[in-house]
This record gives sequence, C-alpha cells and structure tokens, in this order.
Amino acid sequence: MAIENNHNVAPVDETIAVKANDIDQVPHLLEEIAKQGKALTQDGAQNRRRLLETVRSLSYVLETPREAIIRYCWSQPTIFAAIELGINLGLFKVLSKDDKPKTAAELAEATGAEPVFLSRVLKHLGAMGAIYEIGPDTYKPSNFAKTLTIQKYADGFPCMTDCINAAVLAFPQWLKKNGYQAPSDGKNTALKLGFNTDLHFFEFLATNPVYPVRFMNHMSAYHQGRPSWMDPGFYPVQERLSAGLDTSAPLLVDVGGSTGHDLKEFHRKHPEAQGKLILQDLPEVIENAKLVDSDGIEAMAHDFFKEQPIKGARAYYMHSVLHDWPDNKCKEILTNLAQAMKPGYSKVLINENVIPDMDADWQTTSLDFIMMSVFASKERTERQWHALVESAGLKIVKIFTAEKGVESLIECELA
Ligand SMILES: C[S@@+](CC[C@H](N)C(=O)[O-])C[C@H]1O[C@@H](n2cnc3c(N)ncnc32)[C@H](O)[C@@H]1O
Repeated sequence: MAIENNHNVAPVDETIAVKANDIDQVPHLLEEIAKQGKALTQDGAQNRRRLLETVRSLSYVLETPREAIIRYCWSQPTIFAAIELGINLGLFKVLSKDDKPKTAAELAEATGAEPVFLSRVLKHLGAMGAIYEIGPDTYKPSNFAKTLTIQKYADGFPCMTDCINAAVLAFPQWLKKNGYQAPSDGKNTALKLGFNTDLHFFEFLATNPVYPVRFMNHMSAYHQGRPSWMDPGFYPVQERLSAGLDTSAPLLVDVGGSTGHDLKEFHRKHPEAQGKLILQDLPEVIENAKLVDSDGIEAMAHDFFKEQPIKGARAYYMHSVLHDWPDNKCKEILTNLAQAMKPGYSKVLINENVIPDMDADWQTTSLDFIMMSVFASKERTERQWHALVESAGLKIVKIFTAEKGVESLIECELA
C-alpha cells in the first residue's frame, strides 16, 4: 500500500531557514544554564545531565534550520565514518599513547596511513570535537578519543555498521513499500532491505563470530555509568529478594543474560545474598561466558521460547530482552516463566525502559527507533507494560525508577 505525500501546504517564508530556530528562548535558557552551572559538582551526575540537556536545548534554538540540516545530513554520517576508520587504524591508541601532542605526519607514520588522507580525517575529527587540534596539523586526544582505545567502547561503531545502521537508514524505504505502520514480524523489518537478508536480527548476528562479540560489548558499554537496580536506593534487594528466601531453589535466574555481566555485578554488590545465581542464554553465547568459580554463577544453555527448566526460583530476571521482541513473542517468553513460578513466592524482574508520556529521553527514543526498524519490537510505555505482563497471567506489583533515561526495574508476580 503506497501513501503519496501530496499534501497542499501554505508556502513558508524561506528566510526562516537561515535564522536561529527560536532566538526568544535564548535569554531564559542562558539564565537556566547559569543557575544549573552553579549547582554542578564534580560527582553530581544528575545535575550534570540536567545541565547538558539545557545546553543542548540552547544549541537547538540558536542553530538555524540550514545548519541543522547540514548537521544531520553531513556531519553525523561523516563523523561516524571518521571515528570507525580511526578505530580500525589504531589511530586513537597511537594518539593516546602518551601525553605528548602528535602531528599528522607522526600519526601517519605510526598507523601506516597515507599522510595527506590522514591529515584530512584528523581535521574533521578535530572540527567535530572528537580530538583536540592544538596547532596546525597537531593533535591531542580528548577523553572521548582515549575511551575509544577500550575495546568494549570502540566496538559500538563496527557493531552498528555490521548489523544496524544500514537497516535504520533503509526504514523510510521499507515503510514506503509496507504502508506506514511499525513492522510486527521480526523477519520482515528494514534489516531485510538494509542487509539483503531474510534472517531475524539474532540469526543474522550468528552469521559471523565477530558480530555477537561486538554486539555484547556495545550492550555492556551502553550500561556503564548509569544507576543499576542493584545499587542502594534503587530496588531493596534484601527486603524483596533475600528475605524469606527458600534456598532449595535458585535466587536469580538471568534469562537471556548474555555472558553473565549482570549476575557478576550482583554477586559483587551483594556477596551476602544466599541462593544460586543461574545464567541462561543461547548455546553460542553461553560458550563465550568464561565464568570462573569466584563469579558464583552456574551457566546453562536455554532457549526462552521453550519450557523453563528451573522451577520455583525466587526471581526470573530479564534485562533488555523483551524490548527485542514483538508482543506475541514476549507473551510466549513470559508465559514460560509464569508456568515455572511458585505462587506467592516467585517474581519476574524486568529491567527495561518505561517510556514516559512526555519528555522521553533521547537515548531511549533512539533505541525505540532501532527496535522498531530492526527488530519489529519496541521500548514500552507503562500502559504497554501492564497490558503485556497481564497477557501472560502476571501482574505488575511495582515499577522502581531511579532517573530519566535509565531502565526501570518492573517487579511482577502471578496474577
Ligand atoms: C539485548 S541482549 C541483552 C543481554 C543482557 N541481558 C544484557 O542486558 O546485556 C538479548 C539477549 O537475548 C539472548 N537471546 C536471544 N534469543 C534467545 C533465545 N531464544 N533464548 C535465550 N536467549 C536468547 C541473546 O543472545 C542476548 O544475549
């Protein structure tokens, strides 16, 4: 079904394209920035994020529509490519080797790149603030550039190129062909067009051994530096999990838990907690888990679309799992858990975004767009979470939320 864009609209005064988006907002935003700047301390993470959001708003209102268009169309794809090629070349490692500034010629010699080519790339990285240009053809690394020398952070770039970006960019074309509605079948998404495949994302990921590794690294990097439900003041672990524990069944089963980073974190942060920690994921992921005894975790291959073999656990935990699947598949996953649960005792803990009715965080809406275009799934609103959980014979007891843009912990039990 094709929908033609042939709406008649009143002509727009073209001069707006080259004037600030909303200059009237500037004085108020500058006042806010001054106020929020005073409240900023070195460790005040929430204050820093609020100030950054206000600074971003200032930049959006000051920028002209023409500048915004060039930013979206030119700077975003090109800086992405410049960073990815820099990672491939080892550029950020050479630049961050010591505190001495480095010239383009030195960097070219150390990386083996052609000097004139590299000096053009360095200029763009400098112009975009990814590295610091401190003199003609002379650079220092920013903390961002230094972070790109750490594998799990760098892997986000090739991961997006290998498996996601082409699909996201093909989404407008997919929508033209399929009518303007979100995909509902995980095998018929923009992945099909972007990567010329009939596979589901996770099958596509398994076609090259490097893809899952990069994907897991990117997931793990994404979770860094954000409040975790295991931290004090978020979810009361002792009161709601450990109290009344029956140690004849496991404490936590991490369903789709990847290589076990969340359970390792739990073991580290709650060494006092009794009860087994069980990691479940697909066989190829479990093989890469490399757990040691001191992690306190038992790993088992398990497909969450099959019957849950661990019965009566205190909690079945899922982190960023349900957002990968459309409602009908999530219902199957949740129903398999519900059938294994002990009434009045077992819980399901869902660690996911809960999209608010207004003022959603840009990281969460970006992720929702990826989930929609690549996975035929979604980040869910509170109402959607209630409906989904209830469709599997469960009910939400409470949603624990630390702050905007951070995954909540949704505690559920049998209805
Ligand atoms: C987005 S990742 C989240 C991983 C981890 N919970 C985290 O938050 O980092 C989704 C996980 O679901 C796993 N998965 C996909 N299909 C599965 C299935 N049928 N059974 C079990 N795990 C599956 C993937 O291998 C992956 O580890």
